[in-house]
Amino acid sequence: MRVLVTGGAGFIGSHLVHRLLASGQHDVVNLDALRYSGNLDNLADLTGHARYTFVHADICDATTVRSILRDHRVEAVINCAAETHVDRSILDPGSFAKTDVVGTGVLLEESRQAGVHRFLQVSTDEVYGSVEIGHSKEEDSLAPRSPYSASKAGGDLLVLSYWTTYHFPVLVTRGSNTYGPNQYPEKFIPLFVTNAIDDQPLPLYGDGRYRRDWLAVDDHCAGIEHVLNHGQPGAIYNVGGGNEKENLTVAELILHYLGKPKSLIRFVTDRPGHDRRYAIDCSRLRGLGWQPKVSFEEGIRTTVEWYRTHEAWWKKIKSGEFRTYYDEMYGRRLQEGRACGS
Ligand code: DAU
Repeated sequence: MRVLVTGGAGFIGSHLVHRLLASGQHDVVNLDALRYSGNLDNLADLTGHARYTFVHADICDATTVRSILRDHRVEAVINCAAETHVDRSILDPGSFAKTDVVGTGVLLEESRQAGVHRFLQVSTDEVYGSVEIGHSKEEDSLAPRSPYSASKAGGDLLVLSYWTTYHFPVLVTRGSNTYGPNQYPEKFIPLFVTNAIDDQPLPLYGDGRYRRDWLAVDDHCAGIEHVLNHGQPGAIYNVGGGNEKENLTVAELILHYLGKPKSLIRFVTDRPGHDRRYAIDCSRLRGLGWQPKVSFEEGIRTTVEWYRTHEAWWKKIKSGEFRTYYDEMYGRRLQEGRACGS
C-alpha cells in the first residue's frame, strides 16, 4: 500500500514509519509540520530510502494535503499528527483545537475526496476521561477533561461521523500511555529518565499515586499496523499495554535502573484537572490477533538504556525551546516541592 503517515517525525509516528517500511509492503510518505516535537533526527537513517518520502507541511493546509494525496496516489492515511501534551494544552488550548480538531477535519475531507481506501485516526485512551474503577470499552461514552483530550475526542467524533455519513472507511485506535526511545522529554518517562541521568529533581505531581497503563512504542505501532491491515471500517480499537502502575512506582523503577537515589523525587503541585486513572479493555483488538509483547520491566530497562546511550539526542532538545517551557512549568513548583521521604 502507498501510505501517508502524518506526524511521522514525532515519537509514535517515526516508529510507525520505520515499522511500515521494514514490513516491505508499503511505500511511505511522511507529512510533518516539524513543530517543537517533530524531529528529523528520528528519521536520519532513512535518507535516500527508495520507498520513503518526507514532505514538510501542515495537516491544516488543504491545498498541500490535496496535492500530496494526488501526486503520491495515496491509498491509506494514518493520522499521527497531533498536539499531545496535557500540560501544554493547559497553557495553550487553542493550538490543540486547531491541529487535533480542525487539522483532522481537513485531512479527513481531503482523503475522502481523493478516494483513499483506509483512514486510520491514532487517538488516545484519555478521551474516556478518568476511570476510577473498571476498564473503558470502545463504545463507552466519552468524558474528556483536559483541552488535549477534549480536542482528541472532537477529532475522533469527526472521523467516526464520516463512516456514518459517507461510508468512508475510517478506523480509530485509542492507545494508552506510550513510552520508548525518541520520546520528546516533556512526557513523564523521558523527563524523569533524563533528569535522573543529570542528577536533577524528578517533579512528581500530587501524591504520585495516579495510575497509567504503560504501552511500549513497538507494541503500540504493531497495534496500529494490525488495525490498518485487519480492522473493520467504522470501528474503534483500544490499544493498551496491560501494565497499570502508579507514577511513584514507575519513578522508583527508573531510579533503580539508573542506580540513583530516591531523594531525587520531588512531590510538586499537581496538574490542574489531573485524571486519576486510565484503564482500557483491549479484548476487541486481542480478538483480531494482536497482543503486546514487551514486559514493562524489560521495556523500561531498555528505554532507560537508550536515553543513557543517546545523550546527544535529548541534550540538543533540552537546551533549546524546552528550557523556557521547563522553567515556566516547573521552576516555581520545584522550589516549593517536597523531597521524597521528608
Ligand atoms: O493515555 C495516553 C496519553 O498518555 C497520550 O494520549 C498523551 O499524549 C500522553 O501525553 C499521555 O498523557 P498523560 O498526561 O498521562 O502523560 P504524561 O507523560 O504527561 O504524564 C503521565 C503521568 O505522570 C500523569 O499522571 C502525570 C504524571 N506526571 C507527568 C509529568 C510530565 C508527573 O507526575 N510529573 C511530570 O512532570
